[in-house]
Amino acid sequence: MRISENKIEEIRSAANIVEIISEFIQIKKRGKNFIGLCPFHNEKTSSFTVNEEKQIFHCFGCHIGGNVFKFLMEYEKVSFVEAVQDVARRVGITIESNDNFSSEKQSQLELLYDINNTVAKYFSDNLIIKKDGEAAINYFNNRKIKPQTMRSFGLGYCFPARDALVNFLKDHKIDIEKALLLGLIGSSNDGRLYDKFSGRLIFPIFSPNGRVVAFAGRVFNEKEGTAKYLNSPESPIYTKGRILYGLSHAKDEIRKLDKAILVEGYMDLISLYQGGIKNVVAVSGTALTEEQTILLSHYTKNIILLFDADTAGIKASMRSIEILLKRDMEIKIASLPRGEDPDSYIQKFGKDRFEEIIKKAINFVEFQSAIFESQGMFDEPSTTADAIRELVKPIALIKDELKRNLLIKNIARKFNLRERLIESELDKVITQTTKLLTGEERAKLRQNNRNEIVKDDSLIKKTSPAVYNLEREIIRLLFEGNKDIIEFVAAHIPSHEFSIEIHSKIAEIVYEACLANEEIIIAALLEKFDDDKVQSYIIELTFDKYRTSKKWDEIHPGASQEIILEKYAKDIIRKFKVSQIDYKISNNRKEIEQTSNEEERFDLMKVNRDLEKEKSLIINDLN
Ligand code: GTP
Ligand code: MN
Repeated sequence: MRISENKIEEIRSAANIVEIISEFIQIKKRGKNFIGLCPFHNEKTSSFTVNEEKQIFHCFGCHIGGNVFKFLMEYEKVSFVEAVQDVARRVGITIESNDNFSSEKQSQLELLYDINNTVAKYFSDNLIIKKDGEAAINYFNNRKIKPQTMRSFGLGYCFPARDALVNFLKDHKIDIEKALLLGLIGSSNDGRLYDKFSGRLIFPIFSPNGRVVAFAGRVFNEKEGTAKYLNSPESPIYTKGRILYGLSHAKDEIRKLDKAILVEGYMDLISLYQGGIKNVVAVSGTALTEEQTILLSHYTKNIILLFDADTAGIKASMRSIEILLKRDMEIKIASLPRGEDPDSYIQKFGKDRFEEIIKKAINFVEFQSAIFESQGMFDEPSTTADAIRELVKPIALIKDELKRNLLIKNIARKFNLRERLIESELDKVITQTTKLLTGEERAKLRQNNRNEIVKDDSLIKKTSPAVYNLEREIIRLLFEGNKDIIEFVAAHIPSHEFSIEIHSKIAEIVYEACLANEEIIIAALLEKFDDDKVQSYIIELTFDKYRTSKKWDEIHPGASQEIILEKYAKDIIRKFKVSQIDYKISNNRKEIEQTSNEEERFDLMKVNRDLEKEKSLIINDLN
């Protein structure tokens, strides 16, 4: 179902976020805001803040934030539509059926979810069908999976008849084209339809908020020539690299413990969960992707890798380590005795013994050096040097200076080396990797850094700190809710002129909303940003404590809010433009000094003269 945007806004504005959140957690008034302990991460001092005026919440600890719908989606683990319905009930607004219009794309996706949902139910019902489902039930029983666990993970069975699901779909008038698109069934050359998962045990794959986006099917007996697991292909609702198996089940526990265990397989995750270890997610066979890492980082930064002890497992660990380090995650590696996987281990030895394994997790320097040691690399000075060089490489990926230093100390102590020596190795690696990058890769690296939302140094390096801060101030200004100001800013700074990409994006959406005569209220506009990170960036930026006009109240006592804002806007736009030009001029100066090409030098000098002229025009214009 899809509710019209007008209706959504009507419902949102009828609700009071403070009242609704108060029903779930304790918040108390502090100044203009309400604060309390964040329900989304473990904390002892309150960083969870609700702003009644703006109708938004934000946690300054875990950076989650949004409007009332977002709160319910996260807290109650419901979909957006369900959150809207919930609020509607609370404020006594009825959603008429003509409020549900079908935004074409959204309703198409909903149809796909519906089909998966129905099929998942069908597969799981198959388990309880006496004779036909017996083989599958026996299999799970043999692996000590309890009925409750089967239900909780929606485990199921696809009958071996080649067209059992096909017939079910036809009987229930389910759109065959869409079932083909979802990869539930296939169509052979002669046009006959067949079940893709026939004869397999079924593991539904869930999105973080618990919707079935795909399926994995496991064979009963591992035979050569057939893949042990078969996965749904990617579809409009399923992108492999963006899903972590088990996250929908594990996310609360991960937040609560502020720690996640990463395993390889479906069965590993299910057994651990059943055994009482619930902060687990599985990569399911492929290498961990950057998107999965980002997803996980919304819940915790502390990851324990628990991969099989075989060579493939170690390789997978090493790749995952690199990706996690790049995102500044804290990583530890735990290992099981040879021949065991997390599933077999917890089934055999139980929860307590398993927790001991987790407690014994080591950092990656220790992990890698243990591997080198077992390969005999520390037996000779020359290979020892190689090993140390290898150990230093992943450290170069870490952005946090302090963490890097700790690891360097770690290596120095371990191998009885001077820290300086390792630092110089590290410097070498860093210069080498930057040199090895092609122009394109370097551009991509820069781009990635720009997307980084945290007040990251790398953002500022692209501009000057002055420009960066002024841009942030201008974005804040856009959310003061004054149309004239937005138009004024838009007239002077086209969205692409912001040097930080996220600022351009925000400006573009605000300008557009202003043109469309929509009200520029954060709580309403947030829906237009589909990226969580952008949402929390805006919220942090515009939260009460940065109130722009405050300083100006002091400078112009008694002036009206409009006049203050207008003066402030002029002032800040002028400063921004001037800083931007100054930054260009100083860059050009550097190049003028460096270049030996007379012609180029001459051109640059001319450019700088023009920039100076432009600067004085702006100063005149905006005074
Ligand atoms: P069990 O053998 O049932 O305990 O499963 P497992 O998870 O222990 O299997 P294994 O350790 O062999 O593989 C780990 C994970 O890799 C699985 O859970 C799957 O996600 C994935 N995987 C293994 N084999 C295949 C395969 O043949 N095809 C695909 N697509 N994935 C596989
Ligand atoms: Mn296994």
